[in-house]
Amino acid sequence: MQRSLILLKPDCVQRRLIGEVLSRFEAKGLQIIGLKMLQVTPELSRKHYAEHVEKPFYQSLEDFITSAPVVAVALEGLEAIGVVREMLGATNGLKAAPGTLRGDFSSSRQMNLVHASDSEASAERELDLYFRSEELCDYSLCL
Ligand code: CMP
Repeated sequence: MQRSLILLKPDCVQRRLIGEVLSRFEAKGLQIIGLKMLQVTPELSRKHYAEHVEKPFYQSLEDFITSAPVVAVALEGLEAIGVVREMLGATNGLKAAPGTLRGDFSSSRQMNLVHASDSEASAERELDLYFRSEELCDYSLCL
């Protein structure tokens, strides 16, 4: 089992696509074990996107990610990190394949709907940024 941190970004929230995105994850068999809406602060943005802080697009990314609420989702499932990233498609919505979330709902590199952890190390770090351990629920699947 793996856990992954997913962020439904401001464009996803503002376009009322929260339900659509969550239902795709649920339909795939991924389990939502944590869920919250919050406003990302510049400080949280700098921690979350630490690897991008020095990049030329960072300020624009921070302005975007702090512009409206996000929904943080903790997902659990077999190979969840890779499965979710496959479901998202390429970073740039214009290049993402049809059938992927970004391919179907985004035409932008920055406003690309959803963020997902890219490795076990980043999942652990990012889950810690958004959830306290007691906010993650452990429950069995009824299939
Ligand atoms: P995400 O998966 O959240 O990881 C980093 C984010 O930075 C990425 O999605 C995009 O929203 C954004 N991003 C990546 N590359 C660029 C770029 N060249 N210009 C603007 N935004 C970018």
